[in-house]
Amino acid sequence: EAFLLSEFDKAMRLFKLLSILLSLCCGYVVGKECTNIPTQLSSHTFRYELLTSNNDTWKQEMFSHYHLIPTDDSAWSNLLPRKMLKEEDEHKWSMMYRKLKSSDEFNQQGGFLKEVLLQDVRLDPGSKHGQAQQTNLEYLLMLNVDSLVWSFRKTAGLPTPGEPYKGWEDPNCELRGHFVGHYMSASAQMWASTNNYTLQRKMSAVVSALSECQNKMGTGYLSAFPSEQFDRFEAIKPVWAPYYTIHKILAGLLDQHILANNKQALRMATWMVDYFYNRVQNVIAEYSIERHWLSLNEETGGMNDILYRLYTVTKNPKHLLIAHLFDKPCFLGVLAMKADDISGFHANTHIPIVIGSQMRYEITGESLYRVSDSNLYQHQYQLHPSGNSK
Ligand SMILES: *[C@@H]1O[C@H](CO)[C@@H](O)[C@H](O)[C@H]1NC(C)=O
Ligand SMILES: *[C@@H]1O[C@H](CO)[C@@H](O)[C@H](O)[C@H]1NC(C)=O
Repeated sequence: EAFLLSEFDKAMRLFKLLSILLSLCCGYVVGKECTNIPTQLSSHTFRYELLTSNNDTWKQEMFSHYHLIPTDDSAWSNLLPRKMLKEEDEHKWSMMYRKLKSSDEFNQQGGFLKEVLLQDVRLDPGSKHGQAQQTNLEYLLMLNVDSLVWSFRKTAGLPTPGEPYKGWEDPNCELRGHFVGHYMSASAQMWASTNNYTLQRKMSAVVSALSECQNKMGTGYLSAFPSEQFDRFEAIKPVWAPYYTIHKILAGLLDQHILANNKQALRMATWMVDYFYNRVQNVIAEYSIERHWLSLNEETGGMNDILYRLYTVTKNPKHLLIAHLFDKPCFLGVLAMKADDISGFHANTHIPIVIGSQMRYEITGESLYRVSDSNLYQHQYQLHPSGNSK
């Protein structure tokens, strides 16, 4: 890891120098290109109208300014190994991380607080919190398995009994399926907090139904929308944050494994990650790593965070590598260097990446990723115009 850090340090210095040169040449402050600049498109209501509209002229017009050509971004990524993710490099990565994995130093990093298991906490049923928990439990029990998984079955080409939910889960919404990820996380946490077996049966039924969908599709892909949305994502074409939803589903499956001991859920998550690992590998092999970084300008939720969490469970270096590939370097770079005013970045997109950065530090001990060392707290985030990014 000493090798990694010093190489990284060097890269950082070079990057900083390049950034300064670039800003001198071009006469503007670099950094802002790497963002979903808050525009009309940052409003989820507006995006929903846009994406469900049949007016292609309007769509093209709105998205043509969306993915900006980054300058600092490409300067940065030029410094990164160009053959990353190729077969021959996997060995080197494995070596590096075997060392990292077995080092006691990392396990003791930072003296973090010890987590109390949810299973070991019970709320007083008479308290406000106990009542709130009961309301939440009843809500989770109210939701219907067939409705939750409707669009997953549809996407997999399986029969679709029952009715789909509306709103975010509407069969025409490009973000459909992310609520189901939240359901798996919420129900796993509720199960750990209450040991309610009725809920356990329901959440296990959701996981099993999703497993049938994944098996039917047969590639590892699991989503309530077709993989075509990822074709658009990779081609830098208009699409609504498909990885945002994948993050929620992966988090749900991992929570089902960690909190409810569902082994099937872990196998599903791992198979899904294999699928996306191959997709990212193909983008890099066919185009470039810059192309992959460019695609990350579309919101990807907490992909880095969940992949780091998965790595802590599987200890598979492949999971660590794919996690790194979702660290948005053009953003974490400026954060780590404290070199740039990060105000103006879209909160919903970037705060999850920061959380993932802290997770990286907790796993690898790379202090550049330590959030409390960054300038994060000195800046105000630009809130989402629709008000849901606090
Ligand atoms: C489609 O969008 C364009 C650009 O905003 C607009 O000028 C045009 O009137 C729209 N067409 C329809 C049929 O709404
Ligand atoms: C789970 O909670 C619901 C709602 O409080 C309750 O009706 C049900 O009996 C509980 N199930 C079990 C197995 O305890």
